[in-house]
Amino acid sequence: MYDETLRGQKETIVSDDGSLTLYSKEFNESYHSPKDGALRESLNKHVIPAFLLHKGKSSLRILDICYGLGYNTLATLHYIQMHNMDTRVEIISPEFDEALVRSLKDFEYPAEFESLHTIIKDLSNNFVYEDEQFKITILIGDARETIPQLVPDQIDIVYQDAFSPKVNPMLWTREWFADIRALCREDAVLTTYSTAAATRMGLYENGFELHYYDAPDTRRSLIASPKKIESLEWIDMELKKQRNPYAESLRDPQ
Ligand SMILES: C[S@@+](CC[C@H](N)C(=O)[O-])C[C@H]1O[C@@H](n2cnc3c(N)ncnc32)[C@H](O)[C@@H]1O
Repeated sequence: MYDETLRGQKETIVSDDGSLTLYSKEFNESYHSPKDGALRESLNKHVIPAFLLHKGKSSLRILDICYGLGYNTLATLHYIQMHNMDTRVEIISPEFDEALVRSLKDFEYPAEFESLHTIIKDLSNNFVYEDEQFKITILIGDARETIPQLVPDQIDIVYQDAFSPKVNPMLWTREWFADIRALCREDAVLTTYSTAAATRMGLYENGFELHYYDAPDTRRSLIASPKKIESLEWIDMELKKQRNPYAESLRDPQ
């Protein structure tokens, strides 16, 4: 359960692939699955499937929900460099923990991020980074306020990687997913580790088609898109609803 009295309190943990992550006492949850491994989770559940599904695109605009330690953003850049891709990428990432972002210039990232040192430092100090290929903006503030202000129909990829629905429900409600859907292009891909019935319902009620995704060495995750993706295992949500008529999306408080 969320505990405001523990605001900002964190502990470092070593995840199973050797990469470091944090445990938030405030949210009573770790920033990454310790079992899946911080870097492995980021690459396997988010970056790799999203980029494979957008293969060949010359530019991509990504929404990284939320920045946290920045693994998803940094793993994206690492993936592009590793594959010598010239794809232009813009990443927009909300985050309300400004002190965390400011501290990241001193965070001990895995060796894979070594070449990203300047980018890590610029983001930590200025919340923006830009060169000929990459533009990254961390939107400091509450995502529920910053996200609806973005231009609609421009996003190709969403990494939906907030703390879990149990401890941070406001980033998993039907209304939140409506805001996210409004930003997505018709072939956008949303990746998330949460396969919970409430997550699926919230996405489905906003016109997303849902698919299971099984990556090596990580637990099953979900890929959503306005369009059905033939190469993935599609989830028949009408059938799911018949079988579990009590499943409901989370809702914003009235
Ligand atoms: C699970 S962590 C994100 C991990 C991140 N994707 C990474 O790779 O390191 C969730 C993040 O969401 C942030 N957060 C929670 N609620 C938020 C909100 N309403 N607006 C903006 N950021 C929020 C937390 O401060 C935390 O850094």
